[in-house]
Amino acid sequence: MNAIIFDLDGVLCHTDEYHYMAWKAIADELHIPFNREVNNQLRGVSRMESLKLILRNSPVCYSEQEKFLLAEKKNNIYRELLQNITSKDLADGAWTVLEKLHAVHIPMAIGSSSKNTPLIVEKLGIGKFFDAIVDGNQISHSKPDPEVFLLAAEKLHQKPSDCLVVEDAEAGVKAALNGGFLVAGIGPAKDCPNVNYPLLSLSELLAVEGHPA
Ligand code: G6P
Ligand code: MG
Repeated sequence: MNAIIFDLDGVLCHTDEYHYMAWKAIADELHIPFNREVNNQLRGVSRMESLKLILRNSPVCYSEQEKFLLAEKKNNIYRELLQNITSKDLADGAWTVLEKLHAVHIPMAIGSSSKNTPLIVEKLGIGKFFDAIVDGNQISHSKPDPEVFLLAAEKLHQKPSDCLVVEDAEAGVKAALNGGFLVAGIGPAKDCPNVNYPLLSLSELLAVEGHPA
């Protein structure tokens, strides 16, 4: 393994609760049932796909224009919540792990479905650790399509089979496997089928086989 591609939300930082709060506000307004279990199914899924999944629980049929406005409203609430995040919102051990891997010159990228990646990376102050950042603004196919990771590998000048993808979402694990990457699963993705490295914490990455750190 030559390089590491990190998913962002749920792996390097805990934005899930902010996504939950923002979607919950929309769902409540539309009288659609929504809870943390449904929110967990939205991990790694693009904003519009997430909205479609939420609207499946509504008897009302929304037009494309209405859906666009709902997604925009959710994003405005989410971005407002993101204004308050700092490096304190990083996942346990994330800063140390990134610092150590960077110190031994492991090429690293972010591969995220989120169009808010630039704002989150800036707020967390982690941009300096990455050789490439690929996000929802640069891709046309969301996870489980491997596009985001394939573009990240290309930017790192690495073959997929030489890159380890770190994911917390089932859609992300599938995307990585579909692209021919090695996968480390953390959190809910730890027990996904075919994960190469189930991780209890990010710091276990430092002990992954074939890793020079
Ligand atoms: C990440 C999150 C998803 C979110 C997606 C799009 O993958 O895990 O929950 O829906 O990004 O995020 P965005 O910030 O573009 O709305
Ligand atoms: Mg994630």
